[in-house]
Amino acid sequence: MRRTTIKETVENVGQTITVNGWVQTRRDHGKIVFIDLRDRSGLLQIVFVPGSKAYEKITQVRPEWVVSVTGKVKSRPDNLINDKMTTGKVEMEAEDIEILNQSKTPPFEIDKNTLGVDEELRLKYRYLDLRSERMAKNIILRHNIVKFIREYMYAKDFLEIETPFLTKSTPEGAREYIVPSRLYPGEFYVLPQSPQQFKQLLMVAGFEKYFQIVRCFRDEDQRGDRQPEFTQLDIEMSFVDQEDIFNLIEPMMIELVEKIIPDAKFTAKPFSRITYAESVEKYKTDKPDLRKDKKDKNELAFCWIIDIPLFKYSQTDKKLVSGHHPFTMPQERDIKLLDSEPEKVRAYAYDLVLNGFEVAGGSIRIHKREIQDKIFKLLGLSEEETKRRFCHMLEAFEYGAPPHGGIASGIDRLVAVLAGEDAIRETMAFPKTGDAKDLMMGAPSAVSEHQLKDVHISLRKEAEGKELKNADTVVGD
Ligand code: AMO
Repeated sequence: MRRTTIKETVENVGQTITVNGWVQTRRDHGKIVFIDLRDRSGLLQIVFVPGSKAYEKITQVRPEWVVSVTGKVKSRPDNLINDKMTTGKVEMEAEDIEILNQSKTPPFEIDKNTLGVDEELRLKYRYLDLRSERMAKNIILRHNIVKFIREYMYAKDFLEIETPFLTKSTPEGAREYIVPSRLYPGEFYVLPQSPQQFKQLLMVAGFEKYFQIVRCFRDEDQRGDRQPEFTQLDIEMSFVDQEDIFNLIEPMMIELVEKIIPDAKFTAKPFSRITYAESVEKYKTDKPDLRKDKKDKNELAFCWIIDIPLFKYSQTDKKLVSGHHPFTMPQERDIKLLDSEPEKVRAYAYDLVLNGFEVAGGSIRIHKREIQDKIFKLLGLSEEETKRRFCHMLEAFEYGAPPHGGIASGIDRLVAVLAGEDAIRETMAFPKTGDAKDLMMGAPSAVSEHQLKDVHISLRKEAEGKELKNADTVVGD
């Protein structure tokens, strides 16, 4: 198709061109009809005057129809210039219009901010919600942030390496999504909560600087800043201490903000550093919002929370559990307390908090088998359980594991704060509802008896009868 994008029209004054897009609005002013045509790059005002071929067809056209309009681009007179539109200095006079597709009336107005629209409706028709200006802007901002991060990491000589999604249970606290195995009756894969163990094993493999922009899966109760699947910038490095991790992430965040959100201002640069104990005492939280003006969405208060305790007591059964995860290195000065007062041991573990949201977390890892064994023992794991769940890690530590550490940043949260949005759903193309449903696709959903049989699963009483009796028609190869 021969087309000019809408943002390019300002350079085409006096020329006859063709633009393609969606009709955002149609206004009839006596005999003259105006439409605002939308494509990914912006909006263009197009005028239809009586007598043209285009004019005869425009009366039937409705909002959200897809059209191709050919016409001449003209400068607008000074008093009609619209500063709010990137193409506000020009308009097109239509000569011909081709209707490429019609549209039903959308279930909500998409030429306005959709934040006030019923959220279930927005999620069911997400592809329409994404047409709205705010949502499209958020998705493009996310793209720009991810692009910046990738280029930054390449420039710092990191290797981008993929790790599996079908894997084995990892011990990071959250409930896991499990995937039944067809070939091994009664056995399961799990979807990773993060690539934690793989990235450590990549350090044992000698890659030294790894990163990945990766999907993680956690079957947790949902909140505005949590989704069952979300994206991390995941990083691991060899021969580093905590300071090296800060020296990578802090300049990256500063440059990212300065390049992508020039209006933003930092509360503190370099970022404040607060110990976990101090934060809990002074702010009653480990995620303090240090902005001077909490209402100012342009103000960004990053701070590092350091000296996070190695262990905490679980809320349910008061047993010792890891503060971050069990691969985290205790601080040398506290190792002597491991047996007597484990809850007082501080770890080389850190979080990056932005305006009260934890946007990254990481640690220096244990790379010696004796210490790792000891931590598993303190966590109450028997030798048999340690072997069954983690023998690959312990074994790897015996083959020259280098000192290493890393961090992971929640991209969805980072983008949400930078976009000034309260919920991470607003910065994800296809998020799930608060109760983990995909309303557009209709997931989760029942599967056929046949599929269940394939993976050796029969439903328990409470779910019996949910399976589909007839297998779905095969539509692929
Ligand atoms: P952690 O569990 O702290 O660390 O996760 C790192 C960051 O991921 C984001 N995050 C989430 N974002 C959206 N929805 C969720 N459900 C969710 N859970 C976490 C947060 C958080 O700071 N493997 C370690 C990292 C490491 O030690 O290197 C890990 O995953 O922004």
